[in-house]
Amino acid sequence: MKITEYINTLRENVAVAREQGKTVVLIPTMGFLHSGHLSMVEAVRKQDEDYEKFYIVMSIFVNPLQFGPNEDYDRYPRNLVRDTRLAQEAGVDLLFTPSVQEMYPDGPSLTRVNVAKVTDDLCGSHRPGHFEGVATVVSKLFNIVLPDFAYFGQKDYQQYVVIKQMVKDLNIPVQVLLAPTVREEDGLAMSSRNAYLRPEERRQAPVLYRSLQEAAQLIAGGERDVNVVREKIRQRITNETNGKIEYIEIRRADNLAKIERISGAVVIALAVYFGSTRLIDNILVEV
Ligand code: PAF
Repeated sequence: MKITEYINTLRENVAVAREQGKTVVLIPTMGFLHSGHLSMVEAVRKQDEDYEKFYIVMSIFVNPLQFGPNEDYDRYPRNLVRDTRLAQEAGVDLLFTPSVQEMYPDGPSLTRVNVAKVTDDLCGSHRPGHFEGVATVVSKLFNIVLPDFAYFGQKDYQQYVVIKQMVKDLNIPVQVLLAPTVREEDGLAMSSRNAYLRPEERRQAPVLYRSLQEAAQLIAGGERDVNVVREKIRQRITNETNGKIEYIEIRRADNLAKIERISGAVVIALAVYFGSTRLIDNILVEV
């Protein structure tokens, strides 16, 4: 595995891979890697028997642009030594670890990518500027790496919808793929931020997935009223934990539009604070 913090070096290596006829795949991350990230590398390798067919670029960059002033940019967990080992073991070809200076040499970029509507609510309304920061850095990464495919984890489902919309609207020639959420044994969605949880919060956090599963069962049993299902989730979380609910929403899966009755493909998404740690999770349901 090659590792570089420089855009020029990355471009040279990707160009060589392209000359060799490889398909270039980008897995953008903010590091502190866990099985959720590494499963994306595995998913790529599984796509084809020919191990050499893909050139997998993983980026590790904690993007200051997507953190609000009172958010956790400074304390976001970082461990490049461990990440390098894990990425290498997983089969990454090139690890791109740019500095803030390399990505934003003149300070925060003056050009921003703003994806309207799909960023209006859910995480968008609670984290102003977040998706602008995400869309801006991801479009930079797309321009730097020029990948054929890029993977995004389902845990950040709204982010995936935002990136899909951006790629469509701006005709960016990359195929955006969704990687399933990887969970701990007790159902908690893997996230670098789980490291913040205190033992009691960690014990309570799996209720999020249990409440989502219960909602899916309710829907499978014929319930179609969005408010009834949301209320069921709310009750379970408030009865069983000290978590503070930020939102529980059921939306159309393709464009996050509001619905009153459940039909077709929907996403049930929530954000809940355990202490000062904000956790998000979601499941996709089709009826
Ligand atoms: O999901 C993340 O880790 C980040 O939002 C991403 C896509 C790497 C952009 O900084």
